[in-house]
This record gives sequence, C-alpha cells and structure tokens, in this order.
Amino acid sequence: MTQELWTNVDRYLDDALSASDDMLAAVQQESAAAGLPQISVSPAQGKLLFVLAKAIGARRILELGTLAGYSGIWLARALPADGRLVTIEVDRAHADVARRSFGRARVSHLVDLRVQPALDVLPQLAAEGAGPFDFVFIDADKVNYPEYLEWGIRLSRPGALLIIDNVVRDGEVANDASTDASVLAVRRMMSSIEQDGRIVATAIQTVGVKGYDGFAAVVVN
Ligand code: SAH
Ligand code: DHB
Ligand code: MG
Repeated sequence: MTQELWTNVDRYLDDALSASDDMLAAVQQESAAAGLPQISVSPAQGKLLFVLAKAIGARRILELGTLAGYSGIWLARALPADGRLVTIEVDRAHADVARRSFGRARVSHLVDLRVQPALDVLPQLAAEGAGPFDFVFIDADKVNYPEYLEWGIRLSRPGALLIIDNVVRDGEVANDASTDASVLAVRRMMSSIEQDGRIVATAIQTVGVKGYDGFAAVVVN
C-alpha cells in the first residue's frame, strides 16, 4: 500500500462525507499563501474532531497549537451557541492567519485565541478558572507533550476526552533507539499515561494524505 492510495482514499472519503467545503479550502489556501507550514489535520481528521466533540456534547474546548485555525474551525463548529474554544498559538504570524480563518468561518465569537507559549497560558487558564474543559486537542510542539498532557488532565472534567496528534510519526514511536527529541517526548508521555490512575487511554495508527501517523485518545476518570 502506498501514499498515493492513501491520498486517493482520503479524497474519496472527504468527498463522500463532505469533510471539505469552499470555505475550508479557502482557509487552507490563505494559510499556504501566507507561507505557513501545511501540517494541519486532514479534512477527515478535522471532521473526526468535530464528531467526537459533538458526541460528548463539549461546551468548553481547549486546543494547543492553532496554526492557521483549520482544526480550530472544526472544533468551534462542534460547540453550542454559548460554547467556547480556547486555542493557544506561540507564533504571531500563525495567529494572525488563524484570526482571519475564524472570521471567514464565522466562529470568531466562540474563539479565545491566546498568542503565547502554551506552558505560559496553561497556568493562567487554571488561575482564571477557565476550565473545566470537556475536550482537549493537543497538537503543539511535541517536546512538551508530557507537560501538555498533565495540564490537559488538570484542566478537564471527569469524562473529558483528550485527543493527541502525531503520536506515531512514521512508526518512529516504536523505535526505542530513537534520539529524536519529539519521539522521546511522545514515548515519555505514553509511559506516563499507562501509570496514571486518573485516565484511561488508547492510541490508533492512521494513514491518509498526511502519511503514516496516529492519534492518542485519553478519557479522564
Ligand atoms: N492544530 C493545527 C496544527 C498545529 S501545528 C491544525 O490542525 O490546524 C503546531 C502549531 O503549534 C504551530 O502553529 C506552532 O507554531 C505551534 N506551537 C509550537 N510550539 C508552541 C508552543 N510552545 N506554544 C503554543 N503553540 C506552539
Ligand atoms: C508536524 C506537526 C504536526 O502537528 C503535524 O500534524 C505534522 C507535522 C511537524 O512539526 O512537522
Ligand atoms: Mg499535528
């Protein structure tokens, strides 16, 4: 099986299940034109976030790593009219594009975009009493994933769902000789999950337009 087949099947699924539309395509085009890295979740993955957030009736969602706002749009669309998405982005240029994306998607009124390092914002959210969150999407810098998971759990209610992107990375997660800082951090996060009585979790490998990767899914007890 090849990348070409995975890409074709993703195109088929996005088309069959309406995971793309003109607005979302325009958001991705503007992000590319602004020179942002094209590393957002895929359309089918974005719609999965939407389906999951809707399934648990999420009213407060936390996202780490906004980029151009693509995944954030899917998350915001899952919210009720009085819901809230807090999304954190360290890069001002990315945040500027994301703000336009949220406007284009008509979800700005639901979005609280914080432009600071996530590890600075997370304690602020705790101090503000911004939580508890029902749904957390962790997708910022991989080296801080263990800390992000800890904060995600602390800021969440019992029954909250945490989805963590990029936990497989072409299978590197299973390479116990890896010296890559991101891989080492994901492996550290995985072993802490298994020892953490506050949560239960699994992880799933994925293929598609973004290649071979995976998500972890964590539920807070
Ligand atoms: N969730 C987005 C993709 C995020 S890409 C989507 O699917 O559409 C990862 C993002 O995390 C990048 O925009 C990067 O600038 C941001 N990031 C990296 N380190 C960060 C940090 N310490 N705090 C907050 N954001 C960070
Ligand atoms: C990268 C980051 C991501 O969040 C992703 O989904 C894919 C790639 C990266 O930093 O290369
Ligand atoms: Mg990602």
